[in-house]
Amino acid sequence: MNIILNIQRYNPDVDDAPYFQEFSVEVGPNQRLLDALMLVKRFQDGSLGFRKSCAHGVCGSDAMRINGKDGLACKTLVKEVAQKEGDTVTLEPLRYLPVQRDLIVDQAEFFKKYRSVKPFLINDEPVAEKERIQSQDERMQFDDTTNCILCASCYSACPVLDENADFIGPAAIAQAYRFNADTRDRGFEARLAVLDRPDGVWPCQNHFKCTQSCPRSILITKRINQTKRLIEKHKEKQAET
Ligand code: SF4
Ligand code: FES
Repeated sequence: MNIILNIQRYNPDVDDAPYFQEFSVEVGPNQRLLDALMLVKRFQDGSLGFRKSCAHGVCGSDAMRINGKDGLACKTLVKEVAQKEGDTVTLEPLRYLPVQRDLIVDQAEFFKKYRSVKPFLINDEPVAEKERIQSQDERMQFDDTTNCILCASCYSACPVLDENADFIGPAAIAQAYRFNADTRDRGFEARLAVLDRPDGVWPCQNHFKCTQSCPRSILITKRINQTKRLIEKHKEKQAET
């Protein structure tokens, strides 16, 4: 069927402001939105800018706003966003990150906030045997968060960032939780300095937009609330001693 891709274009080197351009594309309902974008790039306008790599929902590089919702073009089927001949699909770059070109954003700020929570295992204790043992139940406490592909869909979907650009955002907190909840990790206090401040975990107001946008079905809002509880418990413990 024929659909219209209404794509936000912007080349900061030559354009004064972003504008929309329509492309008519012939695609099947079970093809992916990324296929439609590739058809435009190959046969209509080679200057169209968008990122993609794996094309299978693994690398996280083709996250964008699709009809006002954040997600991966390679994980979105045409029939999910266009039901009939002539339907229009509007594509925009992720929000809150500077546009480099068309649908490509500069993710430096997103990764800076992600790195600020020290998203790696911290443990200086000597290893008892060959490895640090963990039960399956212990692993399941944070298992979903290990699936993050750092696509930044949740970051763009978060309404809090609209008012508070310094908020570290959902992905960073979910990754802080991933290690704070890991029984092998000892880095909670090191992460606390970033999480327990006005731009840390507290601005989250449970809008659930991050959870709804996540292509990896990570329970982001739940993990943010669990992080808040971990901090509160830690403070209560400190007050008792
Ligand atoms: S938590 Fe989900 S939406 Fe957010 S960056 Fe990770 S994979 Fe993407
Ligand atoms: S191209 Fe890799 S996640 Fe879509």
